Amino acid sequence: MCNSLKMALCLSSFLFVSIFAEVDECKESRCAVQGPSIRFPFWLKDHQPDHCGYPGFKLSCSEKNQTMLHLSHSVKLLVRKIDYKSQEILVHDQDDCRLTQFLILNLSSSPFHFLQENQVDYSLFNCSSTKTDSEFQPVPCLSVPAYPVYAVTSWALIRYLNLSSCLKIHISLPYQTLEPENLFTMNWVKPMCKSCETEGKKCRLKKSSSEEPHTECIKGASKTPMVTGVTLGSIFLMLGVITLYHKYSSNKLERENQMKIEKFLEDYIALKPSRYSYVDVKKITNQFKDKLGEGGYGIVYKGTLSNEVFVAVKILKNFKGNGEEFINEVETMGTIHHVNVVRLVGFCADGFRRAVIYEYLPNESLEKFIFSTTFKNYSLSWEKLQNIALGVAKGIEYLHQGCDQRILHFDIKPHNILLDHNFNPKISDFGLAKLCSKEQSAVSMTAARGTMGYIAPEMLSRNFGNVSYKSDVYSFGMLLLEMVGGRKNIDVTVENSSQAYFPEWIYNHLDQGEELHIRIEEEGDTHIARKLTIVGLWCIQWYPVDRPSMKLVVQMLEGEGESLPMPPNPFTCTR
Ligand SMILES: *[C@@H]1O[C@H](CO)[C@@H](O)[C@H](O)[C@H]1NC(C)=O
Ligand SMILES: *[C@@H]1O[C@H](CO)[C@@H](O)[C@H](O)[C@H]1NC(C)=O
Ligand SMILES: *[C@@H]1O[C@H](CO)[C@@H](O)[C@H](O)[C@H]1NC(C)=O
Ligand SMILES: *[C@@H]1O[C@H](CO)[C@@H](O)[C@H](O)[C@H]1NC(C)=O
Ligand SMILES: *[C@@H]1O[C@H](CO)[C@@H](O)[C@H](O)[C@H]1NC(C)=O
Ligand SMILES: *[C@@H]1O[C@H](CO)[C@@H](O)[C@H](O)[C@H]1NC(C)=O
Ligand SMILES: *[C@@H]1O[C@H](CO)[C@@H](O)[C@H](O)[C@H]1NC(C)=O
Ligand SMILES: *[C@@H]1O[C@H](CO)[C@@H](O)[C@H](O)[C@H]1NC(C)=O
Repeated sequence: MCNSLKMALCLSSFLFVSIFAEVDECKESRCAVQGPSIRFPFWLKDHQPDHCGYPGFKLSCSEKNQTMLHLSHSVKLLVRKIDYKSQEILVHDQDDCRLTQFLILNLSSSPFHFLQENQVDYSLFNCSSTKTDSEFQPVPCLSVPAYPVYAVTSWALIRYLNLSSCLKIHISLPYQTLEPENLFTMNWVKPMCKSCETEGKKCRLKKSSSEEPHTECIKGASKTPMVTGVTLGSIFLMLGVITLYHKYSSNKLERENQMKIEKFLEDYIALKPSRYSYVDVKKITNQFKDKLGEGGYGIVYKGTLSNEVFVAVKILKNFKGNGEEFINEVETMGTIHHVNVVRLVGFCADGFRRAVIYEYLPNESLEKFIFSTTFKNYSLSWEKLQNIALGVAKGIEYLHQGCDQRILHFDIKPHNILLDHNFNPKISDFGLAKLCSKEQSAVSMTAARGTMGYIAPEMLSRNFGNVSYKSDVYSFGMLLLEMVGGRKNIDVTVENSSQAYFPEWIYNHLDQGEELHIRIEEEGDTHIARKLTIVGLWCIQWYPVDRPSMKLVVQMLEGEGESLPMPPNPFTCTR
């Protein structure tokens, strides 16, 4: 009797130990409550023995409880998400000089690979001269004196660039590695645990003596000890359920947010805008707390998707038009990617409410630099102005030509050109944009869109022609002339009334062969000012057919400008 009791006690404690030994050692783990769950093929250093994982899948927890992937001795990446079913891992590089890491990193000896579709977007060039074109993104941490290194998108843009003093460093990087968010996805092929995971089973290393590690698929939970130790088991199960429930309810909100962020990141990487409800938008903007600006078409608020991801949210005012059309259009626009175009990352079409969500750029719009007196001391050099003009032109050209469908912006103006810390321009605000096929020569529109002072004549009256991509060319021309004049084109406050309309004034001066005397300090500047003016005047030709395409504009801006012919007088609408 006594013996059998002892035996039972002994047995149950043995079972207890064995359950925990079996489950504990390689049990799923995390570095933080919200951190990704860690299980085979990954293993967590200092928490699990290495046979819990597959070679090359070592993770560790940082001091801040972030999950880190050890790709090599020196290369550690932060892990945001692990998708066991698709065998993908979303990582983030904490180092400022991300590229150095990739250069020293030899991925061929690691189980991870960049996802193919992300792979060809940036090339690095080691140049022996300084490049000021906006396509050349400096990479200071790789540059040595006299040999600056630049990253260039390997899109069609390269054909425009003068790379004669540059050597290509043969590497192509996912574009995300240069983005401020700096998140990218890698996948692994071996070990193949996909099918195990989708069946809800557990994958683990097969115990074998051979060198090459093999994996096997086992049932999710070990049932046998559960049946024997059923009493014990159910107590622990209950305790577990209670703890889990508590954890769950207190973390539910957090988790929901986390899921939204993950969804956003997935979409972001797939170049697909996320859709948000109005409630989400309210949350993202923290109840519309931080207003960034207001335009004729809506108010822009600053928003936060997570600690690292900031966005600009534009709530469209009085948006007329059909929800489905809106969604189709923003989804298309979300797929575009260009250095000179701000990315659209999400949208909201909730009832009658419409919002568009863009990447947030902390720096100011071109408007501030051209018009505001507080920024005048910051005055942009003519060289810079030229680069900005060229960047904007390339951005618009990309919108017009670079995608399957033509994207017409219809609200090009200094306010909508954002400048980053290197004064690289990015076109923002597609609130009014319209898609049309490239063959289409006319766009039907029910109401005039745009901002006075930049609106093309045909937008106001069809007598002058059809609305088309040439309408953006007009707005660009007006923008160019404002950059030249350093003032609004229409300014009734100037003393001399003949100068009130700047484009006409400057046309008359140029037409009479006069030199330009506007804010010119250096010799070469006259030259740039003249070129920008002539291109601007070509763009604001009254009739759309007389205006150049953006492609031609880019070529004109890139050229020397000496041979540019004087355009006809844009201020007559009789022909
Ligand atoms: C990391 O997690 C441990 C416990 O899991 C906690 O005590 C510690 O405060 C966390 N550290 C940070 C920086 O969050
Ligand atoms: C990367 O490693 C593989 C084998 O491990 C080797 O063949 C290859 O040359 C290495 N590449 C570089 C750039 O070091
Ligand atoms: C760029 O080229 C120079 C001269 O050949 C060299 O010293 C430098 O290390 C190169 N930079 C990189 C990042 O390869
Ligand atoms: C390209 O740049 C080099 C040196 O930076 C210069 O000598 C050459 O004339 C340029 N070529 C063109 C077509 O601008
Ligand atoms: C601009 O610079 C001048 C001198 O260079 C200075 O006196 C003036 O206060 C500055 N203005 C602003 C708004 O910074
Ligand atoms: C904006 O650009 C200026 C000029 O380069 C820079 O000094 C400033 O720090 C930038 N502001 C932000 C918020 O990045
Ligand atoms: C405007 O478009 C219509 C058809 O969409 C076309 O018939 C007409 O010729 C166009 N007008 C001009 C001036 O291009
Ligand atoms: C106004 O401008 C015209 C032409 O540019 C010039 O002839 C005239 O002298 C100017 N008047 C004043 C008061 O500056």
